[in-house]
Amino acid sequence: MKTLYWLLTTCVLRTVCQPLAFDYLVAGGGTAGLVIANRLSEDPGITVAVIEPGDDVRDDPMVLDVDLAGVTFSPSLDWNYNSTVQPQLDDRILPYHSGKAIGGTTVINGMYYIRGDRANFDAWEKLGDSGWNWDTLFPYFIRSENFTIPSSAQLDAGMTYIPHYHGRDGHLKTGNPYQVENGSFHSSARETCENLGITLNRDLNSGETRGYGAYPQTLDRDANVRESAARAYYEPIDSRPNLRVIKGTVKRITFNDSVGSELVATGFEYTDDRGNLVSVTAEREVILSTGTLVSPVILESSGIGNPRVLARNGIQTKLALSGVGEGFQDQPLWTLLFQASTNISGHIPFAAFATAQDLFGTKIGSIAAATSRNLTSWSQAVSQRLNGDLSPRVLEARFRVQHDMIFNKNVSVTELEFFSVGSIIGIVFSPTLPFSWGSIHLDSPVAVNNPAIDPNFLSIDFDIQTAIGAGRLARKIWSTKPLSNFTSAFLVPGDAALPKNATDAEWTDVLKSSCGSAYHGIGTCAMLPKELGGVVDPTLKVYGTANVRVVDASVIPVLMSGHPSAAVYALAEKAAKLIKKSLATGICPVSSTPLSRF
Ligand SMILES: Cc1cc2nc3c(=O)[nH]c(=O)nc-3n(C[C@H](O)[C@H](O)[C@H](O)COP(=O)(O)OP(=O)(O)OC[C@H]3O[C@@H](n4cnc5c(N)ncnc54)[C@H](O)[C@@H]3O)c2cc1C
Ligand SMILES: *[C@@H]1O[C@H](CO)[C@@H](O)[C@H](O)[C@H]1NC(C)=O
Ligand SMILES: *[C@@H]1O[C@H](CO)[C@@H](O)[C@H](O)[C@H]1NC(C)=O
Ligand SMILES: *[C@@H]1O[C@H](CO)[C@@H](O)[C@H](O)[C@H]1NC(C)=O
Ligand SMILES: *[C@@H]1O[C@H](CO)[C@@H](O)[C@H](O)[C@H]1NC(C)=O
Ligand SMILES: *[C@@H]1O[C@H](CO)[C@@H](O)[C@H](O)[C@H]1NC(C)=O
Ligand SMILES: *[C@@H]1O[C@H](CO)[C@@H](O)[C@H](O)[C@H]1NC(C)=O
Ligand SMILES: *[C@@H]1O[C@H](CO)[C@@H](O)[C@H](O)[C@H]1NC(C)=O
Ligand SMILES: *[C@@H]1O[C@H](CO)[C@@H](O)[C@H](O)[C@H]1NC(C)=O
Ligand SMILES: *[C@@H]1O[C@H](CO)[C@@H](O)[C@H](O)[C@H]1NC(C)=O
Repeated sequence: MKTLYWLLTTCVLRTVCQPLAFDYLVAGGGTAGLVIANRLSEDPGITVAVIEPGDDVRDDPMVLDVDLAGVTFSPSLDWNYNSTVQPQLDDRILPYHSGKAIGGTTVINGMYYIRGDRANFDAWEKLGDSGWNWDTLFPYFIRSENFTIPSSAQLDAGMTYIPHYHGRDGHLKTGNPYQVENGSFHSSARETCENLGITLNRDLNSGETRGYGAYPQTLDRDANVRESAARAYYEPIDSRPNLRVIKGTVKRITFNDSVGSELVATGFEYTDDRGNLVSVTAEREVILSTGTLVSPVILESSGIGNPRVLARNGIQTKLALSGVGEGFQDQPLWTLLFQASTNISGHIPFAAFATAQDLFGTKIGSIAAATSRNLTSWSQAVSQRLNGDLSPRVLEARFRVQHDMIFNKNVSVTELEFFSVGSIIGIVFSPTLPFSWGSIHLDSPVAVNNPAIDPNFLSIDFDIQTAIGAGRLARKIWSTKPLSNFTSAFLVPGDAALPKNATDAEWTDVLKSSCGSAYHGIGTCAMLPKELGGVVDPTLKVYGTANVRVVDASVIPVLMSGHPSAAVYALAEKAAKLIKKSLATGICPVSSTPLSRF
């Protein structure tokens, strides 16, 4: 029935030679894109099309299997990008995984649901995003979530939560597998962390991450499968007649060149699965939800960005906006592996978060002062790496807000994640708020899906110091009682590369030669004032355009001491509200025609 309907409408539209037209076009059926598509198409009078190159993978065991989360990457679900050569990391090229499917990166990610610290979000408003802070996002965290209350056996196995911080009516199921490790691992890890001053945190999603605790996963416990954006926001509503998912790869936004001061988008050009270039019309708005790695690149291929970057690619500037692609922030990541002295059979969804105070102890005051003095030179160094596209002055203003978070607001600066696979037990550690920022740009005029990704990890000394502090803490955790009796040999990097008494220089060598990404990138189409390198305003509209919005992780201006998907779901929920509001109040940028029906 549905197929017939589509066949008819599509054929009719095509045969009367009208281009395909919808009220809203969304590029990217990923995490944010599907939230937007779901919420906008709740009104049957609004037509929405999502253009997504990936497949519907709802039955793929690689997606559903909870045990494979973040461990194995199926090439058919992954863009498999690579970074540019990183001179500061021994000229290495880092892999960049990114989901390619309906559901986007949530079909391959690690399923951690940890929002971050209150101050991470309050910093958005501090930087000029009026109306965006922890308190205003909190209702959207709640609105998006359907938390599964742990069973009594799960509670016995160490799961904790505070009901106030969780939604029960949202689309996104969060919870933990029934098979949570129920031996002595949890109590041992907790006791060890407490011995090191890292106390129990009963709910890592309360806006304060510091401590040791259990975290929920984006998971449907009773079905025992991954909860992706597709499962949460698309599959239940995929038969709505006013919502369509088109398989295609968006190449650029098209504009009506005959209108005045602001750029007015008319739609997208995309290549369909046979490689044909197709135009599709947006009667109202176009929304980019292609993620941190691609959204800036689609703006550039459409003529929006830094004129120098555009000229390098032979693209004429329609709108000069030098923040596009700049200020890419991501978290570097390392893994320590040990031989387990006893096999862990269940999942261990436990993590520990530490603040600068935890890492630097009594030296914290002098480090706060010294890093504050260093912010000027760090902004100069990062600006140079960015070819001056963000000025030292802009970077310093943004760095000062980050410094305040770290040293005055006590946000966590590092995350440690426990995991086990077979007879291997390990810990992942990551500094959460680095100052080594990078950029993402169009690398060739034809290839929006071949971005030049420069994470610039570890270019700033403080990030190395934080990583060393985190790494030492991670090692200490495994050699402190009672957790110490869970490990025997130190396998990777091992005692030869990293002896117990390793110096800072030895640590630095190891960190540089084994640095990977947490794939938590944000900031390449930052929601910020234009003077601070902003690309979108607090309504997520691209500066200088009438009807182009970006809604995905790229608009997040500041990293969180957590994992980004929770924030992406929440911000997309808030964005959908904003878009609906602008429709209802008649501040519709484009046409005065009634909503198109088909
Ligand atoms: C390996 C890995 C592990 C992670 N683990 C976690 C975790 O445990 N917890 C957590 O919270 N976060 C995690 N993240 C990060 C998190 O998943 C992402 O930040 C989040 O999903 C990003 O959402 P998004 O909407 O910005 O982009 P995405 O979800 O990536 O959506 C972008 C969509 O755009 C599509 N697209 C790309 N190019 C085009 C084009 N030209 N035209 C049209 N569509 C296009 C893509 O195919 C994709 O579907 C992880 C990421 C990775 C890669
Ligand atoms: C990234 O590098 C890997 C390994 O060299 C390669 O297999 C892959 O095709 C590269 N990805 C892209 C998008 O070029
Ligand atoms: C939330 O999840 C539970 C358990 O999976 C389910 O029974 C319930 O219907 C869900 N609630 C909503 C509002 O979807
Ligand atoms: C502990 O976990 C195992 C494996 O998941 C399970 O078989 C067992 O029933 C659990 N024990 C308790 C007391 O919940
Ligand atoms: C472009 O804008 C002009 C002036 O508003 C309008 O007449 C014309 O129909 C528009 N063209 C397209 C393709 O939307
Ligand atoms: C300040 O910068 C200098 C030069 O890069 C560096 O040697 C020093 O360690 C930095 N101090 C701190 C506290 O980061
Ligand atoms: C941060 O930690 C310091 C030292 O522990 C404490 O004095 C201060 O009150 C804390 N500030 C906040 C905002 O929690
Ligand atoms: C742990 O499991 C592995 C298989 O994954 C097995 O080879 C090993 O003997 C087990 N070790 C212990 C201590 O049970
Ligand atoms: C480690 O020690 C704890 C308590 O000290 C004990 O309960 C547990 O069984 C021990 N685990 C192993 C693997 O020896
Ligand atoms: C670390 O300890 C080893 C053996 O105990 C010793 O040989 C080495 O010199 C020490 N290294 C440093 C930097 O102290």
